[in-house]
Amino acid sequence: MFDKLTQQPPDKILQLMQMFKEDPRTDKVDLGVGVYKDATGLTPIMRAVKSAEKKLWELEDTKSYTGLAGDAGYHDAMIDLMLSDAVEREQVAAAATPGGTGAVRQALELIQMASPDATIWISAPTWPNHPSIIKYLGMPMAEYRYFDAETRAVDFSGMMTDLSQAKSGDVVLLHGCCHNPTGANLNASQWQEVADLLSSKGLIPFIDIAYQGFGDGLEADAYGVRHLAKTQTELLIAASCSKNFGIYRERAGCLMAVSRDSAKTKLNQSSLAFLNRQNFSFPPDHGTRLVTMVLTDPALRSEWETELEAVRNGMLGLRQQLATALQKRTGSDRFGFLADHRGMFSRLGATEDQVIRMREDHGIYMIGDSRMNIAGLNEATIPVLADAIVATDV
Ligand code: LMR
Repeated sequence: MFDKLTQQPPDKILQLMQMFKEDPRTDKVDLGVGVYKDATGLTPIMRAVKSAEKKLWELEDTKSYTGLAGDAGYHDAMIDLMLSDAVEREQVAAAATPGGTGAVRQALELIQMASPDATIWISAPTWPNHPSIIKYLGMPMAEYRYFDAETRAVDFSGMMTDLSQAKSGDVVLLHGCCHNPTGANLNASQWQEVADLLSSKGLIPFIDIAYQGFGDGLEADAYGVRHLAKTQTELLIAASCSKNFGIYRERAGCLMAVSRDSAKTKLNQSSLAFLNRQNFSFPPDHGTRLVTMVLTDPALRSEWETELEAVRNGMLGLRQQLATALQKRTGSDRFGFLADHRGMFSRLGATEDQVIRMREDHGIYMIGDSRMNIAGLNEATIPVLADAIVATDV
């Protein structure tokens, strides 16, 4: 049997992570995988998380199983964080999942179970694992235009034109905020237009939101998801706690299914629990428990929000510094989009060849499509990157 297996295509993000590790240069710059780093290059454990962990160690008296969908306190805390008062609690079914990727996977399986012919519309470009999982599951998939390569902003008219081709019942996968890989995001009025289109065409939104709090703030980043929760009859949300709580390896994610009535929510809840059981039985608990403690303890929550704001403002500062450094070197505003983008990533707009040259000649690692992790920069490496961008004629 094993001889029938073939070499799988490497994941480009994880492959680059490995290449960076193996590069002996000491002045190399890692702008690859989407992991937050502070100015010293460390991915710190947030203070609020560390305090919660200490408390949990003292208080936790069993490691026995929780519910199949995870802990109810976690569902409540995540629904409140994501949706606030946009919907009633009984409109939302929720399940803990192994990370945001686990939530994406479970959501797709739920769609496959409920509506196997639905086409999943993904943005062009999107996080590469989206099409990879959709293809793996054998689900119909189509792309909608999203990014204007010239302006490096959202190609909104292209997006609306393409989505108007979708058929009733199709699913539209949207990034809730901090679009990965481009950094270009919908504004409030564009979210409203998207919502109107989804309603009028009978399309079902599926939001992947992995960076709440990294863009314009916890509340502002939830604008799109809350607006769709208020206006659409059905909505799926795959949320990740990896980045905004800095608990990447704990694998804490949450899948939410919003419907209009509590009877549907009960059905959805049973499907989410069933799907967890089929795939891994019980979801990881440790990270979700830390998240619940941080979100529900006022002192921990306020500490976490302060830390998260510092992370967010740090990235905004780096964006501004990089845009200014490039403005000085080129005498033009053509890199101004770097300051307008939000979240961890920006797509620079370099060719694959230029990306390779920046890596080989300057030790700068970005994804092949020229996605840069802004959090990988610091005051010392911004001029290095700006020089490399200019030297490579981007
Ligand atoms: C990324 O896009 O770099 C992160 O979401 C990490 C991953 O799993 O790809």
